[in-house]
Amino acid sequence: MAELARFGGAPVRPKGYPEWPVHDEGDAQAVAEVVRGGRWGGFPEPGPLAATFAERFAAYQGARHGVVMANGTVTMEVALKALGIGWGDEVIVPALTFAATPYAAMAAGALPVFCDVLPGTLTLDPDATEAAVTGRTRAIMPVHLGHQMADMDRLTEIARRHSLALVEDCAHAHGQRWRDRGAGCFGEFGSFSHQSTKLLTAGEGGCLLTADDRLARLAHSLIDCGRAKDPDEKEFTFGANYRLGELQAALLLRALERLPDQQAQRAEAAGWFQELATQVPGVRLLPPDPRITRWSFYRYIVLIDPEAFAGAGNVAVCEALEAEGVGAWEGYQPMSRYDLFQPGLSRLPVAVEHADRLDPARMSFPVAEDAALRRTVYLDENVFRSGRQGVEDAVTALAKVQRHATELTARA
Ligand SMILES: Cc1ncc(COP(=O)(O)O)c(C=O)c1O
Repeated sequence: MAELARFGGAPVRPKGYPEWPVHDEGDAQAVAEVVRGGRWGGFPEPGPLAATFAERFAAYQGARHGVVMANGTVTMEVALKALGIGWGDEVIVPALTFAATPYAAMAAGALPVFCDVLPGTLTLDPDATEAAVTGRTRAIMPVHLGHQMADMDRLTEIARRHSLALVEDCAHAHGQRWRDRGAGCFGEFGSFSHQSTKLLTAGEGGCLLTADDRLARLAHSLIDCGRAKDPDEKEFTFGANYRLGELQAALLLRALERLPDQQAQRAEAAGWFQELATQVPGVRLLPPDPRITRWSFYRYIVLIDPEAFAGAGNVAVCEALEAEGVGAWEGYQPMSRYDLFQPGLSRLPVAVEHADRLDPARMSFPVAEDAALRRTVYLDENVFRSGRQGVEDAVTALAKVQRHATELTARA
């Protein structure tokens, strides 16, 4: 008889975890009011609810301006375009992120230059970043991955020293703070996603933060078909329609009210998890960085040691955890494995032009590859929104999968 739920054993947590996104009657009412009011779209840009959300979210992170738009991919494309970054330029991106980060560089016409990540945080390696700077480099795009933040001390300093723009991908870092400064407030732009799984969601949506009045105006213009946003500036920018609708803005305003309390819940639960999970053989926690002064826990990333799991890798372990009732995902592929960046497949002019630089056969990111292909287990946020028992069950499930890991490899 199998012990693991994946093969017919009894699951550790059959009732699962709280649903996401959180919603109640107030959300339905907020949307109904927009429906009845008739002002559904994002034109004229910004709509009143979008503008209110942008202002409140910018204040929550500590930024001067927020510009809401369709999603957290075009945010980064718009950021680069507002900075005048395009053909012939290079943008440094971590080798471990979602496709959206390098896609945004390519959509702006620039070449993404991938750098490996640090083993302790799985975020952009500052030394590799500095070594990758060339005469064509224009920006660094750090990604705050899972529950981690990139080393903003060093990356800010490197960007300043080389006169490079800094555009943070904060899709995972709503509410997070580094030395008491909000994610997204370190460089020219901070980019946030409000897609379904994100900590502040309306199903879709994105927000750019900036401290710079001119860059904010340009971003507004770029997402509003190029319309000039300054009465003194008459000419159009080369922009498209990336506006956000008011139905989504209404949901974002509701979600923002819940965010601080959800963050506090997750941070407390993560503390319990850190105490308990260290007792599971073969499970390693990334050391918490004391420079992160407020945590969000979009996904809690742990590393498994496949040798302690009878040779099973992160994919099999995540499947087993899911069957036990604990939401888990193996995470992103390293950039050397993404089809989009393979010149022969992507057909993007920038990829074809730089076929040698984007050839995965020539890419080597030992840290990102080892972590992503074997070790990373991203635990769902709801594990940390279900009290002490929820955390204990997740740890019990991890320990159970480890103890019976031979079932995973015997049946592979
Ligand atoms: C790290 C990262 N960057 C960017 C994005 C893109 O956001 P969106 O889905 O809103 O376009 C996502 C998620 O989807 C992400 O996880």
